[in-house]
Amino acid sequence: MNDFTPAPAMIDPFGRSISYLRVSVTDRCDFRCVYCMSENMSFLPKQDLLTLEELDRLCTVFVDKGVQKLRITGGEPLVRRDIMTLFRSLSRHLVSGRLEELTLTTNGSQLGKYASELADCGIRRINVSLDTLDAAKFRKITRWGDLDKVLAGIDAAQAAGIAVKLNAVALKGVNEDEVEDMIRWSHDRGIDITFIEVMPMGDIEPDRFDQYWPLSHLRARLLDQFTLDDIDYRTGGPARYVSVRETGGRIGFITPMTHNFCESCNRVRITCTGTLYMCLGQDDAADLRSPLRASANNDALSRAIDAAILRKPKGHDFVIERTTQRPAVARHMSVTGG
Ligand code: GTP
Ligand code: 5AD
Ligand code: SF4
Repeated sequence: MNDFTPAPAMIDPFGRSISYLRVSVTDRCDFRCVYCMSENMSFLPKQDLLTLEELDRLCTVFVDKGVQKLRITGGEPLVRRDIMTLFRSLSRHLVSGRLEELTLTTNGSQLGKYASELADCGIRRINVSLDTLDAAKFRKITRWGDLDKVLAGIDAAQAAGIAVKLNAVALKGVNEDEVEDMIRWSHDRGIDITFIEVMPMGDIEPDRFDQYWPLSHLRARLLDQFTLDDIDYRTGGPARYVSVRETGGRIGFITPMTHNFCESCNRVRITCTGTLYMCLGQDDAADLRSPLRASANNDALSRAIDAAILRKPKGHDFVIERTTQRPAVARHMSVTGG
């Protein structure tokens, strides 16, 4: 018999219900994307990381508190040692029906190795970051990445029955000339593609202003080749979708800069050290590692989460201008995994 009684949902000061948790399991990555990391990153010492057991316990407390969607991120989540142990143990919440979705955002480099095991753990849908289909350009953007390996990873995921969505950061002068080709390529394979506006997070060498390509411009250009129909399709994230008459596929737009979606925000994030960020675009955070380690009982942890949710801000203050010297948020995207 299932004697589980759901706890009241977590509600923030703006009446938003928090049902989506993003969990960064490592700040490390096997790529060094130019908009995400600087070339010489320093990473957290391994002893600061929560163990996989602690991550499981933390996620489970959030599931107890009403989280229905869990997304594992990084850095690159699949480079964390023994990461399948975490997917395997978290999958019990899918089996019990308490969790609607367990998923991940990945750069795809390790999918060849892990796709079938992920499918076996109940992963039905994954997001793969891919900004170009040109191998030389791919190397330039990721500094270290190998396009063929990522494409093989996508094939492996689809072969395992996992639906793939591509995430492409819209980069002025970089992938501007190939977005239409990327759309056709994805839709030919039954893959949705989402474009993302670059956000000013972390000090990186290139100027954000030079990278930034507003999606209003991208969308206007697509009309030369495609007929776009707005649709109500939602995945629980911030993307707004259109369907393309010519291909029958979907395109998503994630527009933190030109159209703020914070009013419908349903998510919070934890880092691999157990820090809870209530907003991607703000610095305020709560330490969950101390209450987690202080007691085997979850009461203090649960109270720390409740107190943090009451501090969830209304939204981010991202701005990208030629004159902006500093990023809006000093931490790199790889700390919270987007
Ligand atoms: P779906 O489940 O497919 O809807 O995924 P998602 O869009 O929630 O997750 P994904 O990891 O694919 O994120 C895509 C992009 O959206 C990343 O660049 C994230 O940084 C960005 N993103 C996700 N949530 C937020 C948010 O709350 N605020 C902002 N500003 N960006 C976000
Ligand atoms: N702005 C927007 N998206 C970013 N990503 C990484 N850094 C940034 C940034 N500064 C994207 C990755 C991945 C997702 C998790 O976040 O490409 O698709
Ligand atoms: Fe790694 Fe993702 Fe950052 Fe690229 S965007 S460096 S794949 S964490």
